[in-house]
Amino acid sequence: MRTQVVIVGAGPAGLLLGQLLHAYGIESIILERKDRAYVLARVRAGVLEQGTVDLLDSIGASDRLHREALIHDGLEILFGGVRHRIDLKTATGGKSVTIYGQTEVTRDLIDARDACGLTTIYDADDVSLHDFDTHAPKVRFKVQGVAREIRCDVIAGCDGFHGVSRASVPAAAVRSFEREYPFGWLGVLSDTTPVSDELIYVNHPRGFALCSMRSRRRSRYYLQCALDDHVDHWPDDRFWDELKRRLDTDAASRLVTGPSIEKSIAPLRSFVAEPLRFGRLFLAGDAAHIVPPTGAKGLNLAASDVHYLAEAFREFYAERSDAGLATYSERALARVWKAERFSWWMTSILHRFPDTDVFSERIQQAELDYLVGSQAAIAALAENYVGLPL
Ligand code: APR
Ligand code: PHB
Repeated sequence: MRTQVVIVGAGPAGLLLGQLLHAYGIESIILERKDRAYVLARVRAGVLEQGTVDLLDSIGASDRLHREALIHDGLEILFGGVRHRIDLKTATGGKSVTIYGQTEVTRDLIDARDACGLTTIYDADDVSLHDFDTHAPKVRFKVQGVAREIRCDVIAGCDGFHGVSRASVPAAAVRSFEREYPFGWLGVLSDTTPVSDELIYVNHPRGFALCSMRSRRRSRYYLQCALDDHVDHWPDDRFWDELKRRLDTDAASRLVTGPSIEKSIAPLRSFVAEPLRFGRLFLAGDAAHIVPPTGAKGLNLAASDVHYLAEAFREFYAERSDAGLATYSERALARVWKAERFSWWMTSILHRFPDTDVFSERIQQAELDYLVGSQAAIAALAENYVGLPL
């Protein structure tokens, strides 16, 4: 088999890249380790920056989003028993965020790829990358035990943090920057009316909490938990009781509880690999970086990476220019690191750190007091939350 671009991974990064390339007339094949149902079953975050929505608009994969998504002009930060609204729209001169689950984005992208008749090979086992330090890279894999090979011009590693792409790069050629956080997020999805019209980020002595949503009838809640905690320790009743303890009186009284339809614990990590280009292999999305979910940047960074990468590939084919390929890593990383900083900062001001000291506790309190009392601080949070320019 031969194609122009092999994309490893059918998550949001790989699927969005495939559609952007198709719009540029560039052929791609996506290799996905799991099956379609598994990819569609993953529950992830749900806050889209305007830039991400614009990309989905540009490839005609946003009709359902515009029918079903919620537009949020603000969010609330709760600490000391008081909720403070951050007016994103006013602070950014009119920008908002779109609430639409990543699962739905993935579904819309899979449908768009199918509608274009593009090839996605699911259940691709033993994917391996070869000769990406030459102008004739190739990817080998197996489907139902049958060995296959695709020759291509370039490989896009969109296979997530645990994928094969970054692992295929010689260790000496890649530098990693990492921060692991001493807590996790216990997440619950429930078909209940959200406790508030907007998201509520909570700093409480018992730990962080987040009240989010997927629609007006489906809520998403998170509680900070210990790294060694387990969902089996959290029957629904315990989850709801603990969430109420971390909410203010009004929100606790309004909370609609119900059976969890998904419950999981995720660790929090900041991670960046540098560079993002290795010959004809390019990393994008979670294959290249991880952010703690506090700033809701994971999906949006994947989108900006593939926006830059698709432009680079367009120049490569349409203008026979390597310029975009040469600047992709630096261009993508400049935006990645700003989102890493914001996600780290949001995490640092909202969570309880087990081994913190009294000085750090006072600094955190001062951060929050300064934030809600300063238009400049609010503007800084807002412009990062709605998304810095692409
Ligand atoms: N071969 C083929 N596919 C692979 C391999 C492999 N060796 N390893 C992983 N994959 C697939 C995974 O099954 C997954 O479908 O690559 C895909 C990677 O998708 P994501 O992990 O979702 O990463 P990305 O597309 O970059 O999207 C980032 O997803 O996980 C969230 O929080 C994250 O919001 C962020 C977004
Ligand atoms: C979510 O809705 O899952 C969500 C929202 C905002 C975040 C993280 C997760 O910061």
